Amino acid sequence: MRNFSSDFRRFLRPFVIVTAIALGALGSSFIQTAPADTSKTAAPTVAGAAPTGGDAAAAGSTVAGDPKAGEALFKANCTSCHALNKRVLGPALAGINQKYNDQTYLTKWIKNSPAMIASGDKRSVAIYEEYNKAAMTPFPQFSDGDVENILAYIQIEGDKKPDAVAAGATGATTTAESGVSDFMLIGLIAVVIIAFLVILVLNRVIGTLERLLLKKGTDIILIEDDENDNAEPKDRLATVKKLAKNKKLVAFVVIAIIITLGSFGWMGLWNTGVQQGYQPVQPIKFSHQLHAGTNQIQCQYCHSGAWKSKNATIPSLNICMNCHKYVQATEKYNGEISPEISKIYAALDYSPETQKYGDNPRPIEWVRIHNLPDLAYFNHSQHVKVAGIACQKCHGPIQEMQEVYQYSPLTMKWCINCHKQTEVNSKGNPYYDKVIAAHEKIKKGEKVTAAVLGGLECGKCHY
Ligand code: HEC
Ligand code: HEC
Ligand code: HEC
Ligand code: HEC
Ligand code: HEC
Ligand code: HEC
Repeated sequence: MRNFSSDFRRFLRPFVIVTAIALGALGSSFIQTAPADTSKTAAPTVAGAAPTGGDAAAAGSTVAGDPKAGEALFKANCTSCHALNKRVLGPALAGINQKYNDQTYLTKWIKNSPAMIASGDKRSVAIYEEYNKAAMTPFPQFSDGDVENILAYIQIEGDKKPDAVAAGATGATTTAESGVSDFMLIGLIAVVIIAFLVILVLNRVIGTLERLLLKKGTDIILIEDDENDNAEPKDRLATVKKLAKNKKLVAFVVIAIIITLGSFGWMGLWNTGVQQGYQPVQPIKFSHQLHAGTNQIQCQYCHSGAWKSKNATIPSLNICMNCHKYVQATEKYNGEISPEISKIYAALDYSPETQKYGDNPRPIEWVRIHNLPDLAYFNHSQHVKVAGIACQKCHGPIQEMQEVYQYSPLTMKWCINCHKQTEVNSKGNPYYDKVIAAHEKIKKGEKVTAAVLGGLECGKCHY
């Protein structure tokens, strides 16, 4: 039987589908904006870290020494040319203790490899030749204990799986967040759900009314239906016209559309000027994935400013040359120097043939990605050194990025939310030792100068 109610239902079906899709889309966008938990933070298993006594004893190379102290020395002095499990400029160092089984020799080599080579020591000359006579920096400032610590670190860390080491370097807990508040999204979802319910109720009411009319023997609708059955093509338009005459329904549809468009517009306004995801093309295809990920070069090697000052700083090309004087990726380009690395040479006016620098260098114009407006002051060392926050917390998994993109929204709300949630780490923190000492003095009524509270630090006054 065809009647007003079934027409209305037919009209309703697509509407229900569209609403369901809209709900689904909103739901998924809501999930995306919720803090994503990178589950890649699997810490390296400590169990696997300790070398099994048996193996080390068999190789006769149990290294005493403090691997923690060794790690710091290794990262500060060696990672520019060495990785544990991969050849960089120098050889991979995992297994070096077993290779020589001679700590005295290794100590001499690390403290002064040029002297060892000059003395004609066979093993030294062999490795020097193998690495195309690349020079390893001498470290005469190291004590024997320092070297022992480094070797202990290599021993323990070298036995780990390379990817476990890489994962350990990633302290990434992410707090991706858009400028739109969760409340707003929930609100929007609520509006859609209410609209959906209203339609259902309307549909019900119309059905009941119809049944009532039919019971009373009124056959207006049936008559109309008969007419419609005869003129099938006119039928659809007639339904629409009928619906269009229903002022309440029209008003409802119009209001629903306005609310939907308005909400999207409102969200759009909130996101104006937010550059999350910004990923410009850089003048040299420099890959963080390759350098900071695969080759495990520490962020500090290139962005040392982050620990010392307001700015993290972009490294100068001279830092690239520490490696790229030798690393030219020629295997990839049929023996030619990589065109991307040639750009470094061109900018420095360096000739790889003569190995000489010309006198016409020009800087590479990296495109800046993260940029707060001038009215906001952000200091890296306050966050990296004092608070001990990992770069990845704000910049995302940089070591996995071919090209860097802006991971966080950098909105004021983003700063504020983190400040509300993050506990200050004051134990064993020299920054707070000073503050606490000053407070003690104030309590005792002694004089305290601004200098004691950090008023001499450059970053407190300077951009
Ligand atoms: C400027 C780059 C550079 C730095 C910095 C550097 N090395 Fe080397 N290292 C090399 C090169 C290149 C070789 C290969 C031998 C050669 O060409 O002199 C090498 C070789 C070695 C070897 C011998 C490897 C073998 O298989 O015989 C050891 C051990 C070593 N380095 C340890 C260290 C340690 C420990 C540090 C940090 C304290 C360090 N290196 C810092 C470049 C470097
Ligand atoms: C070998 C040197 C090198 C290392 C190591 C390195 N970076 Fe970079 N970084 C660069 C260079 C060059 C740029 C500028 C080009 C670009 O954006 O890719 C850059 C850009 C960046 C930017 C974007 C700067 C902007 O314009 O806003 C961030 C953020 C960053 N690095 C973070 C890191 C972090 C975190 C690490 C450690 C996981 C790291 N970098 C390791 C050289 C390095
Ligand atoms: C500690 C050593 C080291 C430093 C410092 C370093 N690189 Fe590299 N870079 C490498 C190694 C190793 C490779 C891999 C080469 C290969 O694929 O054979 C590489 C590869 C590259 C490549 C890719 C070459 C190609 O065509 O595949 C580019 C481009 C590059 N580096 C640019 C830079 C720039 C720019 C800097 C300075 C901001 C820099 N590198 C600093 C070690 C370094
Ligand atoms: C608390 C969040 C936070 C942490 C942690 C953080 N950064 Fe940043 N970083 C920012 C912000 C915000 C900017 C934009 C600063 C501006 O425009 O003044 C930025 C900018 C940068 C830039 C662009 C150049 C510059 O100096 O402004 C680089 C490079 C960079 N960060 C690297 C790093 C590295 C490497 C680390 C880890 C040692 C790190 N950041 C840790 C928030 C952070
Ligand atoms: C990942 C969390 C996080 C984010 C994001 C973050 N901060 Fe912080 N910020 C901290 C922590 C933790 C401290 C406390 C550090 C300390 O112990 O002094 C801090 C301290 C500060 C201080 C010093 C406060 C004082 O009294 O000394 C300033 C200024 C600051 N942040 C500005 C910013 C700005 C601007 C942004 C956004 C661009 C931002 N922060 C984003 C965690 C964060
Ligand atoms: C208490 C605030 C304060 C501190 C802390 C501070 N400065 Fe300054 N600095 C200033 C002011 C204000 C000026 C500008 C006055 C002038 O030009 O005579 C200035 C000027 C300078 C200049 C000259 C700039 C120019 O254009 O001539 C340099 C360089 C400088 N400071 C470096 C530093 C360094 C490095 C530190 C940390 C060791 C530091 N400042 C700490 C306030 C400070």
